[in-house]
Amino acid sequence: MTQDELKTLVGEAALQYVVPGEIVGVGTGSTVNKFIDALASMKESIRGAVSSSNASTARLEALGIRVFDANEVEAISVYIDGADEIDGRGHMIKGGGAALTREKIVAAQSAKFVCIADESKLVTALGKFPVPVEVIPMAARRIERQFAAMGGVARLRLKDGAPLATDNGQFILDVSGLVIADPLAFESEVNQWPGVVTVGVFAHQKASVCLLGTAGGVKTLAY
Ligand code: 5RP
Repeated sequence: MTQDELKTLVGEAALQYVVPGEIVGVGTGSTVNKFIDALASMKESIRGAVSSSNASTARLEALGIRVFDANEVEAISVYIDGADEIDGRGHMIKGGGAALTREKIVAAQSAKFVCIADESKLVTALGKFPVPVEVIPMAARRIERQFAAMGGVARLRLKDGAPLATDNGQFILDVSGLVIADPLAFESEVNQWPGVVTVGVFAHQKASVCLLGTAGGVKTLAY
């Protein structure tokens, strides 16, 4: 099976976690796009969605699924999203699609996080994928130096030769070379640096379940 077929497989498998009559939390990325496409088949039986990015909102609305503002919704039973890396305890690196801050907000509002990923995303330790960090532009250089002091190399993410602006109007640093032995401690530490909006390590908002697309089918990992 191709990687794209594995993404379709887990995107469709995630439908079993969607609760009829409720609002579902929706992440961002190519795997989530497969989920959104599959969700269209259930659109009459759900109230709608809370979305983690402008891109997912546009896709949901194009399929006729109502998108609620997060502030209009008190609790969400399930959040479905992809990951750039996931370890054996459900900790993840996310933000390859630059939507990490809104993803963490919707995840925090949700009782259960169902991660959908192809098997290439499963790792024994986080950190091979450069960690995305959303930062306030005026703090970018100082935060780069703080990562250098930790042994990391932070690169400003560019789009068409200019700094990429997130949906929140901020910048992304992609940090490689880090050893993330303790994801919870790492997330707590970096999140309190002045100018950091969100670090793309999801340990406090880890996955409850991962639907992993493998050549043998969908494997369900529960944490
Ligand atoms: C976006 C994300 C995505 O979930 C992550 O990048 C995985 O994306 P894909 O499903 O395209 O591999 O965190 O900010």
